[in-house]
Amino acid sequence: MIKGIFPVEKFKQLDTPFYYYDIELLRATLQAIKKETENKRFHVHYAVKANANPRILKEIAAFGFGADCVSGNEILAAMESGFTPDKIVFAGVGKSDREIEIGLDNDIFCFNVESIPELEVLNTLASAKGKTARVAFRINPNVDAHTHKYITTGLTENKFGINEQDLPRILEVMKDSSNLQLTGIHFHIGSQITDLKSFEDLCVRVKELQEWFNTQGIKLPVINVGGGLGINYQHPNHIPMADFESYFRLFEKNLQLQPNQELHFELGRAVVAPCGSLISRVLFVKEGIQKKFLIVDAGMTDLIRPALYQAFHHIENISSEKGPALYDVVGPICESSDVFAEQIMLDESARGDLIAIRSAGAYGEVMASRYNCRNLPLSYFSDQL
Ligand code: LLP
Repeated sequence: MIKGIFPVEKFKQLDTPFYYYDIELLRATLQAIKKETENKRFHVHYAVKANANPRILKEIAAFGFGADCVSGNEILAAMESGFTPDKIVFAGVGKSDREIEIGLDNDIFCFNVESIPELEVLNTLASAKGKTARVAFRINPNVDAHTHKYITTGLTENKFGINEQDLPRILEVMKDSSNLQLTGIHFHIGSQITDLKSFEDLCVRVKELQEWFNTQGIKLPVINVGGGLGINYQHPNHIPMADFESYFRLFEKNLQLQPNQELHFELGRAVVAPCGSLISRVLFVKEGIQKKFLIVDAGMTDLIRPALYQAFHHIENISSEKGPALYDVVGPICESSDVFAEQIMLDESARGDLIAIRSAGAYGEVMASRYNCRNLPLSYFSDQL
């Protein structure tokens, strides 16, 4: 059933490994997000860090979404692919002067500022250019996202965001910063969040903080709740979309927007993860003493998530239907952590078979490296093959 979705005969003619993107699924995902957000004061800024492939960026920009960027080069990549600067936000704890200047020169919508020193530098650089920079304070809400510790961002022990106790001081700095204009507050608690309760907790904190700003006589035109909506990596038969309906309804229910206030989101994974697969060839089937290794030509340099976060990706042999056998699926890199999956059932596999590692559209291709002097993986799109 799953095998039908891949043009396996065409794949056989291609060098591996490569990323294959199902453009129809991407468009269906974008349509589902649009349906839940249009006619509301909801705006989605796609988190470019999840996948910066120009073709993917162009598809997302064409739907009218904005871009959440985390480096100067992401801002440039987003604009090259059709995102307009008035829909670009720029986050990151360590923005260099050059990167801030890229944002200023292009009049991006907003800098999500993460510290007092950053605010001061931004004001100085904006004033040197005679510009006014729009800023949002990224506040660390101290909400637990209950996800992998490497992708939790909203706890006080994390490097991200401004702590609540620094807010009075930051307002003092704002008073002396004539080249800054406050647009709102920004949050991001973590990634691959599957228990929506964490977002409810975030809403409680957002409301508390908003009230505090109101007592200071400050109205916030924008509340930005970041990204983090998780996807189901386990699904064996088809890759489902994230539950956008419940996600957006949750915010609608828990955050009553003030008149003219906008709610911004920064979804990355949920937009692009389902549509991408990493396609690889079996190099060798190696009989170990206790287990059978399927050695494939993709490695942690192409998809680092399993090695770095012990992430699960569904894997299947898309060119064999010989019935199940038990394997460890491993790559060729000289690291013991170069393992895609341990003790999984796959159709019995042989040298030359094609393997699909699913739900790899987010934080896959974009995190590829050239370790071991390997080539970066290529990419193909469903409407191209
Ligand atoms: N906004 C900010 C400020 C972020 O830091 C992130 C992700 C997002 C939005 C998008 O989050 P998403 O909707 O994609 O969860 N490489 C890791 C994930 C790192 C996420 C970093 N920040 C992984 O492969 O799981």
